[in-house]
Amino acid sequence: MDLPIGWLEPVVRVQTLSDTGSLVIPDRYIKPLVQRPSFNTQSHSQNIPIIDLYGLTNGSVTAQKAVMDQISIACREWGFFQVLNHGISDELVDGAREVWKEFFHQPMEVKQDYANTPNTYEGYGSRLGIQKGAILDWNDYFFLYYLPSKLKDHNKWPSQPPFLRDVIEEYSKEIVRLGKDLLRIFSINLGLQEDYLQGAFGGDDIGACLRVNFYPKCPQPDLTLGLSSHSDPGGMTFLLPDENVSGLQVRKGDEWVTVKPARHAIIVNIGDQIQVLTNGNYKSVEHRVIVNPDKERVSLAYFFNPKSDVLIKPATELVTSTKPALYEPMTYGEYRRFIRTEGLQGKSQLESLKSS
Ligand code: OGA
Ligand code: NI
Repeated sequence: MDLPIGWLEPVVRVQTLSDTGSLVIPDRYIKPLVQRPSFNTQSHSQNIPIIDLYGLTNGSVTAQKAVMDQISIACREWGFFQVLNHGISDELVDGAREVWKEFFHQPMEVKQDYANTPNTYEGYGSRLGIQKGAILDWNDYFFLYYLPSKLKDHNKWPSQPPFLRDVIEEYSKEIVRLGKDLLRIFSINLGLQEDYLQGAFGGDDIGACLRVNFYPKCPQPDLTLGLSSHSDPGGMTFLLPDENVSGLQVRKGDEWVTVKPARHAIIVNIGDQIQVLTNGNYKSVEHRVIVNPDKERVSLAYFFNPKSDVLIKPATELVTSTKPALYEPMTYGEYRRFIRTEGLQGKSQLESLKSS
């Protein structure tokens, strides 16, 4: 199906629904029983690994090795970890979150100027996927491109609040730096040439785009989700969570682990493309977001992706007689089209790439 230039049914802003103060949510947001969050069976004691990167640049060889090992284990066993001392200043981290909170608190008319369409998804949106009558998630978002440069258009970034473009430009530059550093670390950890993954992503011409999620207060959080269970389709994701409100849950076996964010940490997770490139050694793990009756939540998900037209396939070094190639080659551009029409659906996209 071609992506249409407009939505196939009227767009409803979740923030508007929330602001009515109604005690019930519309049927369209009510998830089937099996998908609803189970507030009593979730694990409270566990957390995703927290890794301090300080030793990587400032430590002895032994200290560096210890950090590298922690990253390796987290990529294999969790697909998720939080990093501290990532090189992005506390001020910039707080500032990036703050400008977006301000953006979402502007009057609806201001935000509507940026209303998006399913064609590129850039701008202010309230759903992913185009099926009429689909069950929706309890969030609004803003989506923008940073790389490749030809896709970056500051006019499509909010002009208000006044510093948003500058702050997000600076934050984006730092995220790309961190992304490149981690690709090198992953490559070394996997026993590949240190520039292998960067090359497989398309060299310098990679993709970086930001989805800012806004989860309004929800009167019936037990019936819905802020974001349905999914794995991230791209390369890897850098998530800046809300400092006050938890909500992100990561799958670990049969359990959902609620992430407890460390202050000023950035959450890193492996996306489907790295799972394919590493032939399944690194896991692109399912996650979802639960909502809250008393507090809204903001998060910045920065997607760091391969160039859209390079073929993504398992690295030859990671394909062996005991571990044959698990996935068929596909470009990220093709892969992304599935998601833009169908919406996010657990790990079904990655399953469909499996070699028979
Ligand atoms: C995402 C995502 C998690 C969050 O945008 O892909 O998983 O905490 N966000 O908002
Ligand atoms: Ni995600």
